[in-house]
Amino acid sequence: VTVFEDGTVELLISKRDLEQRIAELGREIARDLSGDQLPVLISVLKGSALFLADLVRALRIELEVDFMSISSYAAGTAGSGVVRILKDLESDVTSRDVLIVEDIVDTGLTLNYLRRNLSHREVGSLKAVTLLDKAVRRIVPVELEYIGFEIPDVFVVGYGLDFQGIYRNVPEILAVRDIARLANDPNILVEALFGSDGVTPH
Ligand code: IMP
Repeated sequence: VTVFEDGTVELLISKRDLEQRIAELGREIARDLSGDQLPVLISVLKGSALFLADLVRALRIELEVDFMSISSYAAGTAGSGVVRILKDLESDVTSRDVLIVEDIVDTGLTLNYLRRNLSHREVGSLKAVTLLDKAVRRIVPVELEYIGFEIPDVFVVGYGLDFQGIYRNVPEILAVRDIARLANDPNILVEALFGSDGVTPH
């Protein structure tokens, strides 16, 4: 995938750049996570699943992974940071080094909620890594120990990030230049991205 002639989307971060940056993050994080307790990486479903999968393979240390699922803000409470836990951790995180793995930090409300929630569980240490940081969009300041890429205020899809549930399996990060066009026809990129092997609309 390179650039779409119609200008709807363009390549923002290539597969190669993702690979290289994740390898660097892996080395940095592995150095910091070498305590005596087994560290646990927490991925927030669903967007960060792809990043988690590549990040853990870049971390040549003993670790565990766990998953959480949270609802988006309830209608009318957008901006309040009120979220609901749909699936909680299965592991006991007491006294352990905990690393939250996020795909993207935008307003910061989600990560802020997670940090507050996990900090009440007597963890040994709590840190967060995000692949993408839309720092200019922040509503609440939130600590971020590791950042893959800082990106401008543009909607992105691919590498786990979706638009209405699709495009998560695009291997690179694409910037959507014409969000109105995509909102009007969410499947508009399917043919260009997946060709004739793409999913036929049902
Ligand atoms: P927050 O605004 O920092 O709480 O981020 C909330 C969630 O919005 C993220 O975890 C993503 O799932 C989603 N999100 C924010 N920006 C984008 C984007 O550009 N593309 C796809 N999802 C996004």
